Amino acid sequence: MTTPALPPRTASVQPAGFPGEEYFLRLSDVGKRFGGVTALEGITLDIRRGEVLGLLGDNGAGKTTLVKVISGVHQPTSGEIRCTGEVTRISTPDRAHDLGIETVFQDLALVPNLPVADNFFIGREMTWNLVPGFIKVLKKREMERDAAETLKQLDIHIPSLRVNVDMLSGGQRQAIAIARAIRWKANLVILDEPTAALSVPEQNKVLELARRLASQGVAVIYITHNMDDVMRVTDRIAVLYRGRLACELRTAETSQDEIVGVIMSGKPPRRMADA
Ligand SMILES: Nc1ncnc2c1ncn2[C@@H]1O[C@H](COP(=O)(O)OP(=O)(O)OP(=O)(O)O)[C@@H](O)[C@H]1O
Ligand SMILES: [Mg+2]
Repeated sequence: MTTPALPPRTASVQPAGFPGEEYFLRLSDVGKRFGGVTALEGITLDIRRGEVLGLLGDNGAGKTTLVKVISGVHQPTSGEIRCTGEVTRISTPDRAHDLGIETVFQDLALVPNLPVADNFFIGREMTWNLVPGFIKVLKKREMERDAAETLKQLDIHIPSLRVNVDMLSGGQRQAIAIARAIRWKANLVILDEPTAALSVPEQNKVLELARRLASQGVAVIYITHNMDDVMRVTDRIAVLYRGRLACELRTAETSQDEIVGVIMSGKPPRRMADA
C-alpha cells in the first residue's frame, strides 16, 4: 500500500539555539514531584511555533506529566515557564485554554453524548438573549453552519453534525477535536497518542492535520510510540528518560534506530557526544 504524502514541513523551523527564534513556550528547569516520586526534573525545552515536536520516551518517562504541567492540570514543583516572553503560571486548564493551549487526548477529547456541532462550541456557545439578562437561547443553526464550514475547509467528512459524537469512529472524533483546535485558533495543540486506535486512513488524516496546523504557525506536540509516525510528522524530537530530558534531535538528521537507542539508554547518540 502506498503512503500518501503529507503537506511539506514548514520553512519557519529554525536551528536549535538560533538567536531571536520565536518560541511559544519556554520551559526552564521544570520539575514535578508527587510526594516522594520525582516525575520530572530539570526540563529545559522550547516549544516553537510552526513546528511539530515529537515527545518520546519509554512508559513512565514523564511525557503525560509534562503535558499536564503545560495544560494546567499539574503545577510544576520547580522551574519556570515563559509564554511568548512572559513568565506565566498555567494555574488551571482554563488558564491554558486562555493562552490558546489545546490538548487532544485519545478518548477525552469530546463529550460523547453531544452532537458534533455542540462539541465544537463547548464553553463558547453562540447565544441570543430571549429575555435580556435572564434567558439565553443557543443559536443552533449558526453553530452548525460554523462547524460545517471549518470541517469542510479541512476536508473532514462527517455524515451529519447532528449525530452524537459516540456514533462516530475514533478517527472522525480525533479529526473533529483537531478541527476544533483550529477553529479556536490555538497557539499550541498537544496530541497525546492520537493515532493509537485508528485505521490506516484515519491515522493518515490525523498526521496530515498535525502538519497542517504546523504550516499555519501553530506549535504542535505529538506524543507517540509509533516510530513511523515520528519520522513522518515531526520536525524535532525531545526524548524523556526517567523524568529527565535525555536529548533533542532533529528528525531530518536522525534515524529510527538512533531514536530507539536514546529512548532505551537515556543517552544522546555518540555522534552528538563526540561533536
Ligand atoms: N498523580 C501521580 N502521583 C504519583 N505519581 C505519578 C502521578 N502521575 C504520574 N506519576 C509518576 O510519574 C512518572 C511519569 O509518569 P507519566 O504518566 O508522565 O509517564 P508517561 O511517559 O506518560 O508514560 P506512558 O508512555 O506509559 O504513558 C511515573 O513514574 C508515574 O508513576
Ligand atoms: Mg502517558
